[in-house]
Amino acid sequence: MNIAVFASGKGSNFSAILKAIKKGFIKADLSILVCDNPKARVIEKAEKAKIKILLVEKNKSISQKKFEDSILQRLEEEKIDLIVLAGFMRLLSRDFVQVYRKRIINIHPSLLPSFKGAQGIKDAFSYGVKVTGVTVHFIDEEMDHGPIILQKAIKIEENDNLESLEEKIHKVEHTFYPLAIKLFVEDRLRIEDRKVKIIV
Ligand code: GRF
Repeated sequence: MNIAVFASGKGSNFSAILKAIKKGFIKADLSILVCDNPKARVIEKAEKAKIKILLVEKNKSISQKKFEDSILQRLEEEKIDLIVLAGFMRLLSRDFVQVYRKRIINIHPSLLPSFKGAQGIKDAFSYGVKVTGVTVHFIDEEMDHGPIILQKAIKIEENDNLESLEEKIHKVEHTFYPLAIKLFVEDRLRIEDRKVKIIV
């Protein structure tokens, strides 16, 4: 099975996934990194690991369709089976999602459906909730909305600040995302409407 990771930032999840593949925890290939930000730190990480990179820059002169078609063409060439979104800061169109229906997953740093959007950790912290967490879910046409694969709750203690909470969340993400990918790769996920059953 061939995996494409889409990321725009630091790439700590990219590294965690790569490590899990190298250890044989996930039996698949990380075929390509798709990145829309030439300054992202994830690029260095992919270069170092000799993973192929598709850098796609979206500016106003490029339509969403053209932008996505160029990605889709490369994914087809690479025979990609699963798209793993790991901090990709760009929404994918309905048409794109249709092509990879049930084969795109995302990690979100809150307990969905609470605190959707780009600032899940900060929004939960500022709101003052006592429990937040991590969600791995399939992508559908709405943002941070598709069927949930895994969720883990994380307590916000009184002595937590935003940084300590971010640290706790990322730590969970780095074991949780590889686990969800492993379940997908082993064909152990069944989507029934909004529910995802895990075959043990
Ligand atoms: C993670 O917190 C993930 O939940 C969110 O984007 C962040 C990406 O972090 N979707 P990194 O680039 O993998 O370090």
